[in-house]
Amino acid sequence: MALTLRGFDIYKEFLDRTAQEKLADTVRDVVRKAPLFRPDTPYGKPMSVRMTAAGIYGWYADKKGYRYVKAHPNGRPWPAIPEEVLEIWDRATGLARKPECCLVNYYAPDARMGLHQDRDEADFNWPVVSVSLGDDALFRIGNITRGGKTESIWLQSGDVVVMGGAARLTYHGVDRIKPDTSTLLPKGGRINLTLRVVK
Ligand code: SIN
Ligand code: FE2
Repeated sequence: MALTLRGFDIYKEFLDRTAQEKLADTVRDVVRKAPLFRPDTPYGKPMSVRMTAAGIYGWYADKKGYRYVKAHPNGRPWPAIPEEVLEIWDRATGLARKPECCLVNYYAPDARMGLHQDRDEADFNWPVVSVSLGDDALFRIGNITRGGKTESIWLQSGDVVVMGGAARLTYHGVDRIKPDTSTLLPKGGRINLTLRVVK
């Protein structure tokens, strides 16, 4: 069963260790085909996470703003979303509609992600599903407008969060990673996958 925090459904240990290991291998395969890159924010400051994507669309940021694009910065189309990732979406949401983007974020020990809304998608009726692998992350959840009180929860390897319904536009972010809290990724750090319906 999920625990709910500010409208986000949090499934602890949604993936067991075997499933996490398999998924980490699958993500490495995606990263081999579509190498991680560090986007620039529109303010000119590079993001601290490195990212890539699978699916028809990948998310991209530069001086021109945030948007979904059909190709990796190297010009090639993004690899397909792996079947095992689509199964997580099915299991977590029960929706027949499939995501069109699996964003892959890699957090080195010093990476973080400021409070933000996921709002570059066309239809906010579809949820965003997040999957955590590797080191623990302090995940902060705010409100549907900027500011106000927030609450935080540690996300661990194998945890899944469904950000949907009335909380679809709730601000969220990652304050910090706790290094060496997981043995899943040989080089440490954290991988977060977010699955989105884009159009
Ligand atoms: C995101 O909001 O895109 C990532 C959230 C996370 O890393 O848990
Ligand atoms: Fe987000």
